[in-house]
Amino acid sequence: MSSSEALQASHQANIQDQFSRQAEIFADAPELHNEDVLALLVNAADPGPTDAALDIACGPGTVCIAMARHARRSVGLDATEAMLAQARRLAAEAGVANVEWRQGDVYALPFEDACFDIVTCRFAFHHFERPADALREMARVCVPGGRILVCDAVASDDPRKAEAFNRMELLRDPSTVAFRPLATLLDLFAREGLPQPEVRFFQIPAEREKMVTRSFPADDDYDGLRAMITDSVAGDAMGMGARFEDGTVLLAYPSVVLVSVKPGAA
Ligand SMILES: C[S@@+](CC[C@H](N)C(=O)[O-])C[C@H]1O[C@@H](n2cnc3c(N)ncnc32)[C@H](O)[C@@H]1O
Repeated sequence: MSSSEALQASHQANIQDQFSRQAEIFADAPELHNEDVLALLVNAADPGPTDAALDIACGPGTVCIAMARHARRSVGLDATEAMLAQARRLAAEAGVANVEWRQGDVYALPFEDACFDIVTCRFAFHHFERPADALREMARVCVPGGRILVCDAVASDDPRKAEAFNRMELLRDPSTVAFRPLATLLDLFAREGLPQPEVRFFQIPAEREKMVTRSFPADDDYDGLRAMITDSVAGDAMGMGARFEDGTVLLAYPSVVLVSVKPGAA
C-alpha cells in the first residue's frame, strides 16, 4: 500500500469510527431535522413526481426521506452501516416506501452514468479529502439538465478565522478534513465544468454544551473543546458569531446550499 493509500485508509477508518459512534445521537439531533432547512433544500432541488433522487453521504437519511415525499424514487448512499441502520428506522417511522439505501463510497458511486435527476449532498463535503472527485461522481450519475446540490457549512473568508474554526472542528470531530470558504466550493463547480451554482445562505444555531456533549473529540479532550468555543467569543475568532448568553456560549455555523444544473439537454 502506498503512503497516500495508507492515509486514505486511515481517514476512512476515522469516518467509520466517528459515524458509528455518532449514528444514534446524530439521527436524533433536532437541528438536523429542522423543517426550514429541509424546505430550503427541497425548494432548491425542486423534486417532481417523475424524478429519481440520490443523496450521497446520506447519514441517517434525513434529506433522502424529505426528497422521497416529492420524488418517484429516492436513494441514500453512505459508507457507515450504523448510519444506514438509523436511516432505515427513520424511513419506517416516516412511512415512506419509495426509498432505497446503499452502502458505498462517494468516490466510486455504484450507479450507471446519468441515472438520477437530482443528486444531493448535505453536511459531508467537509469530510471529503477529494471534494472535486466527489463532485465529479455526483455529476457523472446526474442526467443532463438535472440538479446537483451541495449543502455545507462554510469557513470564514478571513484565513485566521477559518483556521481557528477548522482547528475547533478537527478537535470536535477528528474525521473532519476541512470546512472550506464559499469561494473554494464555487471553484469546485467551475473546475468540473458545471455552471456557477445558485447560492442560498442559512445559519445552523449551536450552543456550547450541546456541541461538547454530543461530540467524540480527539483524545476525549472535552475541556479543550469547551475552552476553544469559549475563547472564540473574543473578536469572533472562529467567524461563528460566538457570544455569551445565559451562562453559555451561543454561536452558529454559516451554511450554504449550492445548486447547479448539469449542462446538456433536459
Ligand atoms: C456529518 S454526516 C452527514 C449526514 C447527512 N448527509 C445529513 O445531512 O444529515 C457525514 C456522513 O458522511 C459519510 N461519509 C463520509 N465519507 C464518506 C465516503 N467517502 N463515502 C460515503 N459516505 C461517507 C459518513 O458516514 C456520515 O454518515
